[in-house]
Amino acid sequence: MTEYETILVETRGRVGWITLHRPEALNALNTQLMHDVVDAATGFDADRGIGAIVVTGSERAFAAGADIKEMEAKSGLDMIMGDHFGEWSRFAAIRTPVVAAVAGYALGGGCELAMMCDIIIAADTAKFGQPEINLGVIPGLGGSQRLLRAIGYYKAADLVLTGRMMDAVEAERSGLVSRVVPAADLLAEAGKIADTIASKSLPSVFAAKAALDAAMETTLAEGLRFERQAFAALFSTHDQKEGMAAFREKRSPDFTNS
Ligand code: CAA
Repeated sequence: MTEYETILVETRGRVGWITLHRPEALNALNTQLMHDVVDAATGFDADRGIGAIVVTGSERAFAAGADIKEMEAKSGLDMIMGDHFGEWSRFAAIRTPVVAAVAGYALGGGCELAMMCDIIIAADTAKFGQPEINLGVIPGLGGSQRLLRAIGYYKAADLVLTGRMMDAVEAERSGLVSRVVPAADLLAEAGKIADTIASKSLPSVFAAKAALDAAMETTLAEGLRFERQAFAALFSTHDQKEGMAAFREKRSPDFTNS
């Protein structure tokens, strides 16, 4: 397995684990970390032995945002010409479902990275926010877009315009967080969710994620068309026949990802 500078990577069964590891900077997302996460995640995405990915940080921070010290001296043109965050779109586009396991701070780019994942499971210590307004900027990795779709205009505006943080309970109540668990159980719970997803048939998991993504990105009519086509296409898989036969025969399905 590749050794990375800013992350730890391992495979547990059919789940790929990515642990952000820049403890000196509360896992701030610098360019190297972006390269590392995107490389590891796209590697897992291309591996048929992987059915789900977990991204996590430390007890203190999932990630405290984009690396402010790296960005501070850049000009507007540097940011545009350097396509400073561009590579993150490759992470958002992977087919494999990603579970974000968040403890501590998920701020700015950290909150935005969690929102590029499909399920956000939060420790009761988690704190979410888009504090960019305090730095004289605005969210740059989806915070004004994905957050609004997740929690609605008024809650998103409250966070983006004031820069305040919300705790795990408020985040779950708002619809940003899928589940809150005691901090000590975070990784085990995230692992269980990822194992469950990875036990399903890959073609149907990919289709489900693509349909959910379509709901975020397109109109209702287009999304419904996409869903119907993807649903029909799954009837040409072995696993659809196996899944439905297993139901009729009252046994567990034996999926072959085909
Ligand atoms: N970038 C670079 N370094 C950071 C960082 C960041 N986003 N967040 C924390 N660090 C560094 C600190 O500078 C500090 O380093 P030193 O020890 O060398 O001084 C170290 O991590 C520990 O941080 P603190 O001493 O500040 O820890 P704390 O417990 O007192 O405070 C915190 C924690 C409230 C999270 C605070 O660190 C903080 O406010 N961080 C910045 C949060 C932020 O503004 N994030 C948005 C960034 S912009 C962005 O993300 C744009 C985008 O949309 C993509």
